Amino acid sequence: MERKVSPMATLLFITVLIAAYYFSESQAQSNSSFQDNFSIMWSENHFKTSPDGQIWYLSLDNDTGCGFQTKQRYRFGWFSMKLKLVGGDSAGVVTAYYMCSENGAGPTRDELDIEFLGNRTGQPYLIQTNVYKNGTGNREMRHQLWFDPTEDFHSYSILWNSHQILFFVDQVPIRVFKNADYANNFFPNEKPMYLFSSIWDADNWATRGGLEKTNWTNAPFVSSYKDFSVDACQWEDPYPPCVSTTTNNWWDQYAAWHLSDQQKTDFAWVERNLVIYDYCQDTKRFPTLPEECSLSPWD
Ligand SMILES: *[C@@H]1O[C@H](CO)[C@@H](O)[C@H](O)[C@H]1NC(C)=O
Ligand SMILES: *[C@@H]1O[C@H](CO)[C@@H](O)[C@H](O)[C@H]1NC(C)=O
Ligand SMILES: *[C@@H]1O[C@H](CO)[C@@H](O)[C@H](O)[C@H]1NC(C)=O
Ligand SMILES: *[C@@H]1O[C@H](CO)[C@@H](O)[C@H](O)[C@H]1NC(C)=O
Ligand SMILES: *[C@@H]1O[C@H](CO)[C@@H](O)[C@H](O)[C@H]1NC(C)=O
Ligand SMILES: *[C@@H]1O[C@H](CO)[C@@H](O)[C@H](O)[C@H]1NC(C)=O
Repeated sequence: MERKVSPMATLLFITVLIAAYYFSESQAQSNSSFQDNFSIMWSENHFKTSPDGQIWYLSLDNDTGCGFQTKQRYRFGWFSMKLKLVGGDSAGVVTAYYMCSENGAGPTRDELDIEFLGNRTGQPYLIQTNVYKNGTGNREMRHQLWFDPTEDFHSYSILWNSHQILFFVDQVPIRVFKNADYANNFFPNEKPMYLFSSIWDADNWATRGGLEKTNWTNAPFVSSYKDFSVDACQWEDPYPPCVSTTTNNWWDQYAAWHLSDQQKTDFAWVERNLVIYDYCQDTKRFPTLPEECSLSPWD
């Protein structure tokens, strides 16, 4: 007997096949993503992922912290990730999230830093940013946040091109670092950088200048990560074509070199309300302020 299959049933079958294919594709992508793009720098056993591989956890105990880094280096672009920080009593604990030209604190490194400084329960977290060029930093700023960063994931991003470096919290630029555009000024734009994150004990300085010590009864301290996203020029030796300023990359265009009107409004609000420390205001520390302090973020 001949079996009859209706065209409708065939169509349905094909649809299910296609759906199954895409479903397994996205599953495969989601759990291979960490290994594809990152490696653990130290203490493999202090790193975990959620069962679906989408959320990553770094933990710190009295033995050690943990850190990861991208396998690739990049030069210019947009770098973003969502973080949820250690909750409860996290005084002394620092979660660092940064870009650096090398895997270590070498004397000629370039670096763009975001550090989250933990605090006693109920006391506000601070976010510290810094910029290094060729091994020299001392460009700290500290900001308060307008939400509790331990309650939920928020995105922390860096926009980097040869004109400016912007540090973002969610969609809000909290810091603008401009290039004065003359040879050898203080602006890291020559060395490609990896992206890193780590958690470590810094109770000798982090919380109220080191007065508040880490309370190990509350260990392990865990920071969580998801939604890594990069739209950037991936480095290839000796020099990838995307790094050329004659190409049409979005980061080489006017809109990426200047704040938009909305960003100006947001940045003005941050400047009025959230700045705790700005090295450019610290004339005790710098009787002569570093040159870039005279550059306007509004230009
Ligand atoms: C992540 O890894 C994949 C596979 O190696 C690669 O194709 C992709 O470019 C990487 N993504 C980033 C943002 O580097
Ligand atoms: C991917 O994750 C799913 C469920 O989250 C799991 O069943 C599967 O074994 C994982 N695959 C790989 C290759 O790790
Ligand atoms: C570290 O913590 C563990 C578990 O809480 C404890 O048994 C151990 O004594 C601690 N070690 C040090 C050096 O404090
Ligand atoms: C970078 O720093 C090193 C070591 O401090 C120094 O020898 C070198 O001249 C510096 N390079 C530039 C371009 O300033
Ligand atoms: C921790 O809380 C204290 C008290 O509110 C505050 O002075 C301090 O700036 C907060 N953050 C850090 C990192 O010390
Ligand atoms: C450390 O944390 C434990 C548990 O939360 C608490 O009982 C203890 O008083 C804390 N110690 C200090 C020195 O704050």
